[in-house]
Amino acid sequence: MKFKKNILCIGAGYVGGPTMAVIAAKCPDCKVTVVDINAERIRAWGTDQLPIFEPGLLAVVREARGRNLFFSTDIAAGIREADIIFVSVNTPTKTFGHGAGMASDLQYWEKTAHEIVAHSDRAKIIVEKSTLPVRTAEAMERILQENKKGIPFEVISNPEFLAEGSAVRDLLEPDRVLIGSRQTETGLRAAREIVDIFASWVAAERIITTNLWSAELSKLVANAFLAQRISSINAVSALCEKTGADVGEISFAVGSDSRIGRRFLNASIGFGGSCFKKDILNLVYISRSYGLNEVADYWEAVVRMNEYQQERFVQTIIREMFHTVVGKKIAMLGFAFKADTGDTRESPGIHVARKLLEEQAVLAITDPQALDNARRDLAGLAGAVEFEPDPYRAAADAQALAVVTEWEAFKKLDYEKIFASMRKPAFVFDGRNILDHRKLFEIGFNVFPLGKPSLTHFA
Ligand code: UDX
Ligand code: ADP
Repeated sequence: MKFKKNILCIGAGYVGGPTMAVIAAKCPDCKVTVVDINAERIRAWGTDQLPIFEPGLLAVVREARGRNLFFSTDIAAGIREADIIFVSVNTPTKTFGHGAGMASDLQYWEKTAHEIVAHSDRAKIIVEKSTLPVRTAEAMERILQENKKGIPFEVISNPEFLAEGSAVRDLLEPDRVLIGSRQTETGLRAAREIVDIFASWVAAERIITTNLWSAELSKLVANAFLAQRISSINAVSALCEKTGADVGEISFAVGSDSRIGRRFLNASIGFGGSCFKKDILNLVYISRSYGLNEVADYWEAVVRMNEYQQERFVQTIIREMFHTVVGKKIAMLGFAFKADTGDTRESPGIHVARKLLEEQAVLAITDPQALDNARRDLAGLAGAVEFEPDPYRAAADAQALAVVTEWEAFKKLDYEKIFASMRKPAFVFDGRNILDHRKLFEIGFNVFPLGKPSLTHFA
């Protein structure tokens, strides 16, 4: 069959995989190929055990796989064949050298740019999908324009707004699709080609076109605003614990103002995930590099508040368990950075586990999807840690439960049975405020929610 367009995606991860599966399902006249250097990942995309856990994804992949959706490790062939190349390789925060802990590590992204130049023999549209610092498109253009073959490339920014756990729904029914381009004739023409892809299933008024820098910056700002709401309510949760106010009641009362809105006001042990911290730090880094120190400090405080909240959770556990957790078994309910994903990148669970192990607690970690990642994240740490798929076994003989991830399954556990199997006095630290605290108290637990009065049996 002859396809109308050949679309390539470099990077078969959390962003590239679901996005391309949806594009392929919705545009049967386009051939969509996803390539990756990771052969194991590519192999898994060809099976029913997809390399990432995402509700509803398998059905979408199955609809298009083998028809117009293909997975391959042959990056060179993919580039040669493509009319449009989406780049969704990983861009984690640098862990070394200048800008370590702040700037993005662009080595994978730059390698991709060079590969595109090496294997192209005709004009192509390059679409930035990965989260990138502002003005990366310019660097991409410079590398592409260095090609000796005189091939014209047009760079488009099409940032991804999907959230893990709801990726398929977010892709099928996006609030908006953002497409940034150079405001030149060729730039606008390239943007129209990308608009046409999404217009197959997204209403025209939800497809926003802007200049390149607005698109790049919008992505960072959207994530910074969302993260800021979480840090704001988390700051309030600390105040609630001192004043007797209830953070849930405050979220409801404040969020009822239609100008504020209810979403993203759940107090928690802090936000995680691959985007929020990285994007804010990008914003901080770029602001500082332009000498805008007040702007940088303002956004950096959102990250500092998040770290404070994670640490506060650990300190509450230690303080309330009589200032020592040495040798005490603590069952961590959840390790993923949020429910409905196996992803643990920047998960508050990592900080909590590390700190409790440093304090010589004995950990039993349970999570429906994230145990393999948890094992990798904690590899090499000294201390006693057990990874247990069965929450009842994780809790047996434990002295405390620490809720890290808001999995639905944790709400439905038989807490009478769990209480009976635990050592006494038994504690619950609910870092997500998902459990029925009054009921747990009545069963016999000493309950420490976030930002709400604690319920204890101590005189
Ligand atoms: C985020 C953005 O939502 C998405 O648009 C962007 O493309 C990528 O980054 P994601 O990281 O998948 O998506 O998850 P999100 O649902 O935004 O949650 C991020 C973190 O905030 C999680 O750790 C979550 O548990 C936490 N959170 C969220 C809260 O603590 N409280 C809330 O009220 C909402
Ligand atoms: P994201 O959440 O941004 O999608 P992931 O880490 O899940 O990040 O996915 C990025 C993918 O990009 C990984 O599977 C990685 O192997 C792949 N990748 C990194 N560099 C290259 C490259 N030069 N060529 C092809 N794939 C790459």
